[in-house]
Amino acid sequence: MPEDTLTIIDNRTGKQYQLPIMYGTYPNYGSAIHTIDLRQIKASDGDFGLLSYDPGLSNTASCKSAITFVDGERGILRYRGYLIQELATKSNFLEVSYLLLHGRLPTQTELDEWIWHITHHTIVHENIKKFMEGFRYDAHPMGILVSTVAALSTFYPEARNITDPEVRKRQIYRLIAKMPTLAAFAYRHSVGLPYTYPDNDLSYAGNFLNMMFKTVESKYILHPLLERTLEVLFILHADHEQNCSTTTMRNAGSSHPDPYVSVAAAAASLFGPLHGGANEQVLRMLSEIKSKDRVPEYLKRVKAGEFRLMGFGHRIYKNYDPRANILKDMTAQVLEVTGKNVLFDIALELERIALEDEYFIKHKLYPNVDFYSGILYKAMGFPVEMFPVLFAIPRTAGWLAQWLEMLGDTEQKIIRPRQVYVGADTRNYIEIKNRK
Ligand code: SDX
Repeated sequence: MPEDTLTIIDNRTGKQYQLPIMYGTYPNYGSAIHTIDLRQIKASDGDFGLLSYDPGLSNTASCKSAITFVDGERGILRYRGYLIQELATKSNFLEVSYLLLHGRLPTQTELDEWIWHITHHTIVHENIKKFMEGFRYDAHPMGILVSTVAALSTFYPEARNITDPEVRKRQIYRLIAKMPTLAAFAYRHSVGLPYTYPDNDLSYAGNFLNMMFKTVESKYILHPLLERTLEVLFILHADHEQNCSTTTMRNAGSSHPDPYVSVAAAAASLFGPLHGGANEQVLRMLSEIKSKDRVPEYLKRVKAGEFRLMGFGHRIYKNYDPRANILKDMTAQVLEVTGKNVLFDIALELERIALEDEYFIKHKLYPNVDFYSGILYKAMGFPVEMFPVLFAIPRTAGWLAQWLEMLGDTEQKIIRPRQVYVGADTRNYIEIKNRK
């Protein structure tokens, strides 16, 4: 009996089936069967065959990927094999985005060329400002971002030619380069400030801070710690294997539209409070708790199922999210500069009590990337509404890397899952006068 197989006995028929088991890099973390092999298992000749039923796809590998590896049990996160802790300490966002998209770290020449292209695509068509003007002053910047990145699709019709590598490359430059510009414009519109144009002398993170916060000074002066903090935040948020929004990117991309509308779909998915919208909810939650001594009472309500502890829990991490650890340390450093923040004290107390509490231990609920990121963003002067936008900017590099990988994967095709139908059997139409 070949050992790398699964033997299934269908007790309805007594038949035996052998299904080959496939492995990835780590045989003990990601072995799988080809679900299509279940279809041969039939209860009778007319039987369609077995499907696998997996709401939320919590135990379904939708693809093979070499981009990001997450070991949720041990709290490990690696981009293309490099530990997130190393990249956060030694790299910068544009180098990490090159790594995600190309599969290896760039040489100095490659990095210089990469940075040159991104830097020279930061400007958006002036008509985009007309879109922005159409939004109410209090429009959520994520709604503006989703709409305007989709609208970019209409400025680059060549982008629909997704089979051309050179065309794909140009759209990737444009999307990575323009997301910060669109994000900053959305913010400036919401506060009634004039748009600040990109400053090509600045780093990717520095230029975003410039477009966000520059007012009447001739040159925006960056605080080195805040610039580095934003670089690290962008690195930590760049990719995270098959999360909800990345799955949306692959799903939308699988019917071969241009990458702008696929990124817009992914950003829409990221906006949800269970996903990238969580850091905004964390800040609202911490503000609602108001003080450390009210934490036990709040946790009691969480355990009673009244609401979820935002920024806690994860589909994959059943241990501490390594990104949360990095952000926690960074928050302490940044608050030294920007000034103490009671929300951080509340967050630390929440984490301390929760990690000792039976409910959270039993449910394996630990702080995730969103638990501390919001406090950092707030300390850096970003309004709460900008938090999911700050997630979408760096995650665009991850979405595009996953999109490219999908297009190059000969096993991938348009995503069209099956269902287990539980609705009505055939029935005849009844005239309305005869309906009860
Ligand atoms: C991100 O997937 C990614 O990689 C995402 C992300 C990325 O980089 O792309 O890491 C970014 O989205 C981080 C997650 C941000 N979301 C939140 O912080 C929102 C709060 N957390 C959750 O709602 C929840 O933990 C999820 C959505 C993140 C994960 O949910 P799962 O895996 O579907 O787990 P579940 O909803 O089935 O919950 C399992 C149990 C339930 O209890 P029972 O019904 O079994 O008794 O755990 C409980 C839940 O009620 N639970 C929580 C909880 N999260 C889960 N209880 C209280 N507080 C929470 N936060």
